[in-house]
Amino acid sequence: MPITDCELATDVRIPCPELVNLYGCRVGNQTSIGPFVEIQRGCTVGDRCKISSHSFLCEGVELEEHVFVGHGVMFTNDLLPASTNPDGSLKGANDWNLLRTRVSRGAAIGSNATILCGITIGESALIGAGAVVTQDVPAYAIVVGVPARVTGDIRSRTAVPPEVSRMTANEVAS
Ligand SMILES: CC(C)(COP(=O)(O)OP(=O)(O)OC[C@H]1O[C@@H](n2cnc3c(N)ncnc32)[C@H](O)[C@@H]1OP(=O)(O)O)[C@@H](O)C(=O)NCCC(=O)NCCS
Repeated sequence: MPITDCELATDVRIPCPELVNLYGCRVGNQTSIGPFVEIQRGCTVGDRCKISSHSFLCEGVELEEHVFVGHGVMFTNDLLPASTNPDGSLKGANDWNLLRTRVSRGAAIGSNATILCGITIGESALIGAGAVVTQDVPAYAIVVGVPARVTGDIRSRTAVPPEVSRMTANEVAS
């Protein structure tokens, strides 16, 4: 599978470049991308992200820095998908509404999660394995289930990585 028309930072790690499908996307420094990942045109992936195998990032998805994406995570960008228009003609590029999704710095998405579109996942939030995220996730929240609901706060479970906590402290202060 190809890597075409992408802006890859100098130290992007793609151990199996023949097994990914990346086109028209931007990927930041020290980010790693596992096999069988597709990243579509217009996606932005920040520095030091980790995208595990079999995940799909569609047009309109933005990952900020230090985001973890587990295995087989599916993003979406069309809330009301359809193959054809009401008149039976095939839908084209202008026949649907793209909804963007942002995953904030330090967030982590468990394996097999589905992220509906038009959503913001807050800083350092943790999405449980298999969750279906249908609405915005607050910063630091742990969410699980279908639909995903808040069940905890990551700050009570683990230390937040120092760089992330430093940034948060500065932001809170400003
Ligand atoms: C969500 C997660 C962080 C656990 O959070 P937690 O707060 O420690 O949850 P606990 O293990 O204490 O479980 C609390 C409850 O949530 C349930 N639960 C835990 N994870 C769940 C999940 N992913 N989906 C649905 N329910 C889940 C538990 O069954 C338990 O339910 P109960 O109270 O009825 O018994 C973890 O289960 C998870 O999904 N991690 C992601 C793993 C992953 O995908 N890694 C990717 C790389 S390998």
